Amino acid sequence: MSFKGQNCNNFDEQAVIADRVKAIAFERYGYIPKACVITFGCQQNVSDSEHLKGMLISMGYTLTEEINEADFIIFNTCAVREHAEDRVYGNIGKVKQIKKDRPKTIAAVCGCMAQQEKVAEKIKKSYPYIDIVFGTQVSFRLPEFIYRRMNGSPRIFELSLENGDIVEDVPVSRDGKFKGWLSIMNGCNNFCTYCIVPYVRGRERSRDPEKILEEARAMVKAGYKDITLLGQNVNSYGKGCEHGVNFAKLLRMINDIEGDFRIRFMTSHPKDCTIELLDTIRDCPKISLHLHLPFQSGSSRILKLMNRYYNREQYLELIKAAKERIPDVALTSDIIVGFPGETYEDFKETLSLVEEVEFSSLFTFIYSPRNGTPAASMPDPVTREEKGKWFDELLRLQEKIAAKNTQKFIGKTYRVLCDSYGSEEGFMSGHTSGTAVIEFEADESMLGKFVDVKVNSYNNVFKGTII
Ligand code: 5AD
Ligand code: SF4
Repeated sequence: MSFKGQNCNNFDEQAVIADRVKAIAFERYGYIPKACVITFGCQQNVSDSEHLKGMLISMGYTLTEEINEADFIIFNTCAVREHAEDRVYGNIGKVKQIKKDRPKTIAAVCGCMAQQEKVAEKIKKSYPYIDIVFGTQVSFRLPEFIYRRMNGSPRIFELSLENGDIVEDVPVSRDGKFKGWLSIMNGCNNFCTYCIVPYVRGRERSRDPEKILEEARAMVKAGYKDITLLGQNVNSYGKGCEHGVNFAKLLRMINDIEGDFRIRFMTSHPKDCTIELLDTIRDCPKISLHLHLPFQSGSSRILKLMNRYYNREQYLELIKAAKERIPDVALTSDIIVGFPGETYEDFKETLSLVEEVEFSSLFTFIYSPRNGTPAASMPDPVTREEKGKWFDELLRLQEKIAAKNTQKFIGKTYRVLCDSYGSEEGFMSGHTSGTAVIEFEADESMLGKFVDVKVNSYNNVFKGTII
């Protein structure tokens, strides 16, 4: 069989190969084979893994969470911080014994970490039991990779990063029944100096709005009540495309789909967050009242070194505009502590910004040097221990702010999606339109429904009653 599809950007050829894998996999194992998908990293990776699962099902596999009983194992990896990479190496080491016990098992590594040449080389040399390694832009070719390996191909290493169109119609098997991810774009053009993503996911590419709407409609029809639009920088959706649909317009189009559901989105870069977008959130009832707006550092000097294209004042102005237009908006953010050259004076500006804005929650990270990024070769005199102390100081401040914030919820009523049952028998928990989670008495049949809940108290978690 030839593989003319190596540069082609639709799934048709892979769908044909998937059928052939189904036949030869059954011959190879003599039973319906099982596949285990192990995911590291962000929501984008979780969403990509749902497509890996969809493809595996189309190849006749059933899914398992038990790595030891899997006939196909795939690690979808993350490269954003060193810690994530270390965890992956620890996990792929387990495959050695698994393949001793079950030699017909096939193992693959993909995702952002695998996209780096040095990592692929290391796996080639030091992890000979990994059969297939592939990068972020060729994952739709999974059927072909498995087919080739089952037919005796040497180990497969495919890292091409061609920045072509996003491949449509790749099968998907979503993990959740009511909450689902919907990827609207991929890649990043921003080149923040600390970040590996533009190197491993390639240039920014937006999906066609019609394709997104089609998928959103299908999700609503299938009963999804909470749809999160995903992209490294959703605010620049549609830039450079002929269709002229920007992110705010796309949101309005999805909001117009009939049905009772919520729209969320992430991640937004402050430099591309427009007043038009804020007004769209305010005007469209289905868009949740949540804005994740990573500021990374409160110091304009550090923001410049990070290549973020906004300063402290501009960020605060944007927050002011968001609060004015959307009074109940839940604001969240990402922060990096200990960027190369950051002083305690700079860090204090991060603290004061956190204090001023009062975020609902924060994702905080200690800077991790990434090979090949500009920041990795900047002087970095502050010790890890010192950075750890700053980090703890930031956490303590946020805890104090969060404790104060919880008081605002008591006595108010929120529309909540019943999304998780049984942390305690007879109790449901659910998300508000913002980021808060409330627990309340309800039976399992309420899963996937919206209810109005009045918040009575807070003790690590909000407790309320349906009204
Ligand atoms: N070190 C620490 N944190 C990082 N992030 C991205 N790159 C790094 C790095 N090298 C954080 C940023 C980003 C989030 C997804 O991860 O805060 O917004
Ligand atoms: Fe990890 Fe970033 Fe890749 Fe997501 S995009 S998987 S966080 S490196």
